[in-house]
Amino acid sequence: MNIQNNSHSADATTVEEGLARVEAQSAREFTSDDATALAMQNTLMTPRFYTTDFDELDALNVEPVRKDWDKLIAQMEADPNKGHFKKNEDWDAIDWDGMEPELKKEFIDFLVSSCTAEFSGCVLYKEMKRRGNNPDVVQLFQLMARDEARHAGFINDALREAGIQVNLGFLTREKKYTYFRPKFIYYATYLSEKIGYARYITIYRHLEANPEQRFHPIFKWFKEWCNDEFSHGEAFALLMRTDEKLTTSFANKLWIKFFLTAVFGTMWVRDHARPAFHEALGVDIEWYDQEVFRKTSEISKQVFPMELDINHPRWKPTLRRLEKAFADMDKAKAKGGLGGALGKAWGATRAGLAFASLYTIPVIKNDVPESVRLEPAY
Ligand SMILES: [Fe+2]
Ligand SMILES: [Fe+2]
Repeated sequence: MNIQNNSHSADATTVEEGLARVEAQSAREFTSDDATALAMQNTLMTPRFYTTDFDELDALNVEPVRKDWDKLIAQMEADPNKGHFKKNEDWDAIDWDGMEPELKKEFIDFLVSSCTAEFSGCVLYKEMKRRGNNPDVVQLFQLMARDEARHAGFINDALREAGIQVNLGFLTREKKYTYFRPKFIYYATYLSEKIGYARYITIYRHLEANPEQRFHPIFKWFKEWCNDEFSHGEAFALLMRTDEKLTTSFANKLWIKFFLTAVFGTMWVRDHARPAFHEALGVDIEWYDQEVFRKTSEISKQVFPMELDINHPRWKPTLRRLEKAFADMDKAKAKGGLGGALGKAWGATRAGLAFASLYTIPVIKNDVPESVRLEPAY
C-alpha cells in the first residue's frame, strides 16, 4: 500500500529533520534509528498509517460479486508467491560503501518509504482482520496482511545489508494513525494498490530491457511482487462494486476525482525529489510518472466512472508548478525565521492553487464494464 494524506501539516518529525539525519551519514553511519525516525514522519510526502470504522467495513456484503470474489480469494489462497520473498542466487552482492553518496541517500529514502508504505497496508489489513466478524472480509484482509508483511519484511531485509532496519514494532505502537471513512479507504487504497502495481511493473520492464541500469537486486523481485498488489487492487474494486452509489453518486464522483488528483500529484512531487535515484535507473521522471499514470488510469476504468485527462495541455505544466511550490516550501522551512515562515505560506498557497488547477481539468468520462475483474497485463 502506498497512500498519502493531503494535510499540509508536518507534525512529529519534519522532512528536514529526517533528511538532515540521512545527510548526517557522511559524518557518521546512517542508523536504524535514523530509518525509523524517517518512517515516523507524517507529512504529505511520507506514507501514513490509517485507521477506519471497522464495524462499517465488517457490515459489507459481497454477495453481489460472489462469483468473482470466490475466484479471487481462491487465487490468493493458492499463494503463488509463497516462496518468492526470499533471497536466492539472483540476489547480487551490493557495495553499499562504494555507492555514490547522493544515490545512496535517495535509495535508502526510497527503501524506507516503500517499507513504511507496505507496512502501512499490513497494519490496516491486520487490524481489520482482528476486529472483523464477517468471514469474507476477515479472510480477504488476512490474505492481504500476509502479503504486505512479506513485502515490508523483504525490504527491511535489503536495508539490513546496509546496516539499517526500520523498527516495525515501534512504528505500529508509536506512529500516528490517520482516520479515513471506509469509502475513502476504498478509493485511496484501491488507487494505491493499482499505482503500486503500475510503478513496480514499469520499473521492472524498464530494467528488463536495460539490465545494466539495475544497481540493486531488489528490482528483480518486482514482477511477482506487483502481482500481489494487483490482486489487492482487484479486491477493492470488487468491494466498490458491492454498492453502486460508491462510484455513481455526484458527491462520490467528486471524491474519486479528488483522490485521483491527490495520489497522482503526490507521486509526481515525491519522485522528483529523488533525481539521483531515477538517473541511476536511467529513468526520465516525467516519462516514468506519465507512464504510471497512463497504466493506472487504464486499469481504474474497471471501476471508476472517469479518468483524469493526463494529456490535457494544463496537466504537466501544473504538476511542474506544484513540484516547484513544494521545493520552495522546503527551502523556506530550512531557512526559518519570519522570511522562512512567509516563504512557506507563499509556497503552500501556490501548491493549493496548482492543485485546484489540476482538479478543475475536465475528466474523461468512462462507462464501467459489466465485468469488473482484470488480470495483470503489463
Ligand atoms: Fe505490498
Ligand atoms: Fe498491496
